[in-house]
Amino acid sequence: MKADAREEEEPEDRRPATVLFADLAGFTAISERLDPEDVRAFQNDLFREMAAGIERYGGFVEKYVGDAVMAVFGAPRAHEDDPERALHAALDLHARVATLNAGWAGRLGREVALHVGVNTGRVVAGHLGGQNAAYAVTGDTVNTAARLQSAAPGGQTFVSDGTYLLTRHAFHFESLDPLTLKGKTEPVPVHRLVGAATRRRSARGLEAEGLAAPLMGRAENLASMLEAFERAVAGRVQVVSLLGDVGTGKSRLLAEFLTRLQVEGRLARTTVRQAACSSLGEPPYGVVAALLREAYGIAPEDSLAVAREKIVRGLQALGATPDETAGATPILGYVLGLEAAGRMPDVDPESVKRQILLLLRMAVERRLLQGPLLLVVEDLHWADAASMAGLEILADWFVDRPLMFVLTSRPAAEARAIAPSRATRTTVRLSPLDPEDCSAILEAFFGPVLAQIPTSFRDVIVKRAGGNPFYLEEIVRDLIATGVLARTDEGWVFNAAAAPADVPTTLQGVLLARIDRLPATVRRVLQDAAVLGPLFEPRVLREVTADPAGCEAALDQLREAELLEQASPERPLAFTHTLVQEVVYQNVLVRRRAELHGRVGEVLERLRGEQPLRLEDLEALAHHFGRSEQKLKGARYMVAAGDWARSIYANDDAIRHYEMALETLPPGEVGERERLAVRERLGDLRGLSGRRSEAAEHYETVRRAAEASGDAAVAARQCRKLAGLYWEAGERDRAQASLDTGLRILGTDTDDIELAHLYQEMGRLAFRSGDNQRAVEWAGRALARAEQIADSAVAGGETKKDAALAIAHALNTVGVALARLGDPVAAVARIERSVAVAQEQGLLNVACRSYANLGVLYSELDPGRSIETCLTGLETARKIGDLGFQSRLYANLAVAYCALTDRCDEDGVRAAEAAIDLDRRLGQIDHLAVPLIVLGQIYQCHGEPDRALAYYHEALGLAEEIGEPQLLFPCYDGLGTVHLDRGDQVEAERYLLKAEAICEQAGGDRDSLVVLPFLT
Ligand SMILES: Nc1ncnc2c1ncn2[C@@H]1O[C@H](COP(=O)(O)OP(=O)(O)OP(=O)(O)O)[C@@H](O)[C@H]1O
Ligand SMILES: [Mg+2]
Repeated sequence: MKADAREEEEPEDRRPATVLFADLAGFTAISERLDPEDVRAFQNDLFREMAAGIERYGGFVEKYVGDAVMAVFGAPRAHEDDPERALHAALDLHARVATLNAGWAGRLGREVALHVGVNTGRVVAGHLGGQNAAYAVTGDTVNTAARLQSAAPGGQTFVSDGTYLLTRHAFHFESLDPLTLKGKTEPVPVHRLVGAATRRRSARGLEAEGLAAPLMGRAENLASMLEAFERAVAGRVQVVSLLGDVGTGKSRLLAEFLTRLQVEGRLARTTVRQAACSSLGEPPYGVVAALLREAYGIAPEDSLAVAREKIVRGLQALGATPDETAGATPILGYVLGLEAAGRMPDVDPESVKRQILLLLRMAVERRLLQGPLLLVVEDLHWADAASMAGLEILADWFVDRPLMFVLTSRPAAEARAIAPSRATRTTVRLSPLDPEDCSAILEAFFGPVLAQIPTSFRDVIVKRAGGNPFYLEEIVRDLIATGVLARTDEGWVFNAAAAPADVPTTLQGVLLARIDRLPATVRRVLQDAAVLGPLFEPRVLREVTADPAGCEAALDQLREAELLEQASPERPLAFTHTLVQEVVYQNVLVRRRAELHGRVGEVLERLRGEQPLRLEDLEALAHHFGRSEQKLKGARYMVAAGDWARSIYANDDAIRHYEMALETLPPGEVGERERLAVRERLGDLRGLSGRRSEAAEHYETVRRAAEASGDAAVAARQCRKLAGLYWEAGERDRAQASLDTGLRILGTDTDDIELAHLYQEMGRLAFRSGDNQRAVEWAGRALARAEQIADSAVAGGETKKDAALAIAHALNTVGVALARLGDPVAAVARIERSVAVAQEQGLLNVACRSYANLGVLYSELDPGRSIETCLTGLETARKIGDLGFQSRLYANLAVAYCALTDRCDEDGVRAAEAAIDLDRRLGQIDHLAVPLIVLGQIYQCHGEPDRALAYYHEALGLAEEIGEPQLLFPCYDGLGTVHLDRGDQVEAERYLLKAEAICEQAGGDRDSLVVLPFLT
């Protein structure tokens, strides 16, 4: 396809590109003194040379401005090595201007020099401003390149850090002090291009980061190569082709093969010759030339005479006759590219070919007389046809000789293979590595540190790499560059906060190069598909794509190009590689992405209905609308998905959806109502998992907003929820104050259910402060109100459920207060009723409270039942992810085990320790004293007074802070009795008196405080 033909139809897109600016500074001054015709003639020469230099390396001349040229490498068509191409072009441009000077300096009066700037980054490309406009790229990347160019002295190339990092394996640079460029606030690092490296290092591998992995998998492949080698050495020509996509490990396998032979001493008599084809393409006989250069030690700077001399001597050393060598030398200049074919007018191409083949034949034949010969050619997909034919003929000539070819190649559509008719051919296909092998590579890289990286994250890396070790390395390189993985003196650390960025630039180039080969119409369908996601339904694509009629054919082509795959006709289509989807998605202009996402959302709504029941559908709708212009709609679906997750107690998922909704909601008034609703839900979930300050922040925000807008019920509800958080943190006064505020805001003249909730909490706080009488009163009022509301509410509605919640809690509060007042039977009856109400409405949270209380109340009457109840409670608490209740239930379980003396030792201690551990982790000061006391009691009972004292003392410290009688009493009582056991009368007396005082102050009898210390 002609370059300009495809340019016509290029869709606009975003892509990484390398931009080169070259300017002939000072020419304006010179041209003033010149005849305009000379100026014109010189500019023609200059532009022709610049265009030739740029196009030679696959660049695109974007425009000429004055005496400057702007070129782009990577658009409209990407290559995997665009940054390198740009630098080769830069060097070439300088050389061309030097040649121009030779002819022009006289007329110009002085020599001219180019100033070149190169930068790599993201650009927007296309016919910006309509299909009639020229193809162009824009973006800050372009500006920086222009700035670098104006900073570069004559004859020099200044390169940005971005380009430098992608090319430093193949070029020499001098790093300069950072420069302040016009229009940039921060000074930017600048590198001066010195030249191309004669021995380029591989861009592959992470050795520079100190990371290396042994060869994983590939054992069979290696074995078949070694077998072929044996056959070759035995005297039968072998052609082995290593076939695999970019980065699958062809070069690596080859290197391992050669090392293996070397280490095992099997190469002793064998000569190895290696050549690699360039991605720029090879000139005719380029591969043959490379093999000759390597064989006879010809350096790039050697003249034709020197090269000829080296070859002749080399051939003679192998026993070639003067006649033979004389026959070969005339065409050498042509083969080695030291002489242009046009300069040999008297030789016709056919005879050149014959002579070259003769030379080859002679060279190989002589070599084979010395021992086996192994010819390695890498990246044959870029080889020239003439060399391929040459290799093929060689293989057929030397059928019964110890000759082996190893050729690596990518299985591109236009893949060429050499197909000699008589040689034994072996094709070694490199399939993707198993996920296990990829994990093993990561393990080899990071060793023990890998354990610190969450498995889910590791899985993401492995999945993204899709079995390609090169992709894997680039992803890791990117994680290092972005700071997700950082090396410290102690080794590697994983930094979860830093988010991995886009697809690494190197991979974008590699993948785009593949995609850019497709016709524009097909690429557009691929872009639409990428917006749908890595997995999509063709019928949805047909509905959103601009060209539904052409869709089917495009999909066929994409399947053929192995960019998409489909397990079976009724299954969704999938991108063969998630990275391809990511790259194509990043390609789509942001504006177009938003528009497409909106269309996809609408199609999905039509297909699934506006209130879909499956989480998957809600998530898809949330995803697409969230990325469209209809953000509010997207956020609402996110909330719906969050609610869905919360309803099955998948709390982490719910939090994820809610937080996404917060990020997605448009700022300002529009999304305010939703924002507050989400925040309250987040407060509830964060509170459950013990992140109280986060929860409090959400509630506070909602409360302020609700007060400002006069929504008393919502504001009061936040006060109540805040009070709960304060209580858990052991801040009783603050909890009380918050409830009082809630009551004040709400007032009593309301029929909102919130009033019942507030009354209930007042009762609960009274109970916790030891005022059982008031507890019964407040909870009674709550009960009356809630029952009244429940009676008039419609069944199945939110109000009914909310009323039930108040009722179940109030029954608990009344129950525990009654128990403390000495009526355990009435207490059990109330709480059992509360369980029934909670179960009926699916209120698992309050059910936990009931189970915890019943567990305590049963422990005296029926320990077996108590254990059973605690275990049911624990299961419920685990299900709803409530860690606070889990610790309460563990503590109660410990008490119950102790009542059944035979299980006290092990199960009791373990349960109490589990509770302590949870409380400490959650900072649950209001409860931590309880399991501490239980452990104290257990050790006291087992005759370990010292251990018991330690636990009682720690518990007492906490209890005194909180001032709760039901905690203080057992501490004093325990300490008193332990001292009594140890015969320390004075200490014993002191604590027992304190216990007495608490008892009187709480108005309860001593027994109820000892027996039932852990009601909640
Ligand atoms: N089996 C393997 N185990 C561990 N690392 C591997 C394996 N195969 C390849 N690698 C590493 O992955 C990277 C890419 O491999 P390599 O360069 O050999 O791919 P390639 O197939 O030659 O690619 P290209 O088509 O671009 O030439 C290299 O750094 C290599 O060391
Ligand atoms: Mg390779």
